Amino acid sequence: MNKPVVYITRTLPEAQLQTLADHAEIRMWKEADIPVPEEVLAAEAAEADGLLTMMSDPVTDELLEKAPKLKVIANMAVGYDNIDMKAADRHGVYVCHTPDVLSDTTADLGWTLLLASARQVTSAADYVKAGRWTGWGPFMFAGQQVHQATIGIIGMGSIGTAVARRARGFDMTIYYHNRSRNAAAEEETGAVWMEKNDLLENVDFVVLTAPLTEETKGMIDAEALERMKPTAHLINIARGPLVDEAALENALREKKIAGAGLDVFSNEPIGADHPLLQLENVTALPHIGSAAVPTRQTMIELAGLNIKDVLQGTQPRTAVPEHREKPPRS
Ligand code: GLV
Repeated sequence: MNKPVVYITRTLPEAQLQTLADHAEIRMWKEADIPVPEEVLAAEAAEADGLLTMMSDPVTDELLEKAPKLKVIANMAVGYDNIDMKAADRHGVYVCHTPDVLSDTTADLGWTLLLASARQVTSAADYVKAGRWTGWGPFMFAGQQVHQATIGIIGMGSIGTAVARRARGFDMTIYYHNRSRNAAAEEETGAVWMEKNDLLENVDFVVLTAPLTEETKGMIDAEALERMKPTAHLINIARGPLVDEAALENALREKKIAGAGLDVFSNEPIGADHPLLQLENVTALPHIGSAAVPTRQTMIELAGLNIKDVLQGTQPRTAVPEHREKPPRS
């Protein structure tokens, strides 16, 4: 009997795909760092029983329409806003993601950005390398104090909780905002729930870890930025569209807030000529929240196992929340 076909939208290491390879014929896009062209993905999806996708691959209704055999999409990310969920439901396709396994690594990166933004690390490092360091000054690159400051985490899931856990080590006061209260995180980290506006007004560091939904899109707009302290920093390790980038640029330019550490943008990759990147008080990274080698290996393995589960007719281990109770398509 022919094995089911799984198409993977990047070149990924075989070692992490061994179990999947025992159950499926694996086909892959030939590049590791260049996205698969839309027409190639459409042609491959047309023959596939499973897809292993990246968060940068748009999975549209049009694509699913032309993929009659498709049973499962495993996104190698915790976020799955690149997938048209209504279309996936209509076509009876399971959607899976890779939650939890990347939380600590993503929180580490959030903290890297927080510290870098607060202490002007990238500007200071560039200054040394450019040979501009000609003498020491008492307030040279003097930034914001991190320890014992107040942090406000927006989105208290697994990543938000991991950010809070680290904040305890910095002896910080921890507030969070989330649609629903997270009693376990409160108990473990001492974080206190707050209304979003109160949080924005009271904290030194706002860290965004919420998923991108209709509700969260544009949540940090001009009005939200206006509420923040002029000494505060905004750290975004979630999704770019949570923030109105034009409003952020304005707030940073006019020093309504002190700085921003951004791992994510509305359009990725962001162009070097983007106004935000011209600002000294912006620390920008290329969406590398979960980019630590063992974490990425685990994510690949988990995505593969999810596909294998569905192809074997069992409930995938990490279906997206909307699909956790859904029976597999026969
Ligand atoms: C990365 O942004 C992810 O959603 O895993």
